[in-house]
Amino acid sequence: MHAQLNSTHQQLFGNAGELFKFFAPGRVNLIGEHTDYNGGHVFPCALDKGTYAIVSIRNDNKIKLYSTNFSKIGIVELEVNQKFTHEPQHDWANYVKGMYKIFLDNGYKISHGLNITIGGNIPNGAGLSSSASLEILIATILNYIYKFNIDPVTLIKWGQNVENNFIGVNSGIMDQFASMMSIENHAMLLNCSTLDYIYAPLNLNEYIIIIANTNKRRGLADSKYNERVLECQTALKQLQQKLDIKTLGDINSDTFLANEYLITNPIHRLRAHHAVFENQRTKDAVIALKNNDLITFGLLMNESHISLRDNYAVTGIELDTLVEAAWNEPSTLGARMTGAGFGGCTVNIVHKQMADSFIHNVGKIYTEKTGLCADFYIANVGKGAHAL
Ligand code: GLA
Repeated sequence: MHAQLNSTHQQLFGNAGELFKFFAPGRVNLIGEHTDYNGGHVFPCALDKGTYAIVSIRNDNKIKLYSTNFSKIGIVELEVNQKFTHEPQHDWANYVKGMYKIFLDNGYKISHGLNITIGGNIPNGAGLSSSASLEILIATILNYIYKFNIDPVTLIKWGQNVENNFIGVNSGIMDQFASMMSIENHAMLLNCSTLDYIYAPLNLNEYIIIIANTNKRRGLADSKYNERVLECQTALKQLQQKLDIKTLGDINSDTFLANEYLITNPIHRLRAHHAVFENQRTKDAVIALKNNDLITFGLLMNESHISLRDNYAVTGIELDTLVEAAWNEPSTLGARMTGAGFGGCTVNIVHKQMADSFIHNVGKIYTEKTGLCADFYIANVGKGAHAL
């Protein structure tokens, strides 16, 4: 990937002096879905796939951006001190503009321009955080090149801020956190309310993680996502009439069941039910993993999917077909959708020796039922953003 990006950079920007290289990973969330913006726990790990950049310094104030994934858009040219606004024709570069804006808004002075060539090997819009990896990549680049020395958690919050206020998706903090803070061969249990986290070794013995991509375009995913956020906020407000809580993550399942009558809209009640029980499942899953009880871990993943399907309504025929086909394979310990849903990917814990038959059988059923072709990847658990 790097060699190719290097030569693209040289072709576009000539012999541009010292080249700096960076990487920020995508992530897969093992369990704890749609809990982050509800103040609950998540359990993601970084992938060894993600977004790469080659950067060279310019002596003027121009920022020149190019992505090999969006070659049709060509070079996007900006000025370091311009007003950064969202422009649809800039597509992927809006994430970069949003990051520049937030550095400037926080009083950081950008003293010179940059040439940045980007390329990624995670499929866009597949629920593996291609956008968060781009935000964290740019944050890492600016922090490194301009020697700002900003702490990683601030950069993570800025990444989420770009997503919320510049792009317009009211997402939680999980993806940026995972892309920045992950360590190799570990997943991270993150409390999204306090931002406390612990790393848990991913000892899966003879099992591996297989990611399956539905290759279904996510369509209205962003507006549906924001709708879920709002539904949970409304449910929370009604619970707060009686309970002294700040988020849905503050209550356990018993307290929820005793008070759910406060939530007047039955749909909102289901959404909150998911958020509360999924939070519990996530904590239970990490304990199961620690006890080397992979069977329980897998069952909790399956329950997570069922709740995302029945209570949260974010799956759809493609994700459900892939997951159900995976459940029917004897080699599967657990399978569920991962990420926001509405298309995107599933995550599966599968016996190593039966990976090929898993891919063959699940892929075949999926194509028969949906007419689409799934892609499968064996996930290697990588580490967070860094200069190379
Ligand atoms: C997307 C968002 C995350 C999280 C997940 C669902 O990936 O960016 O913040 O809400 O969906 O768990």
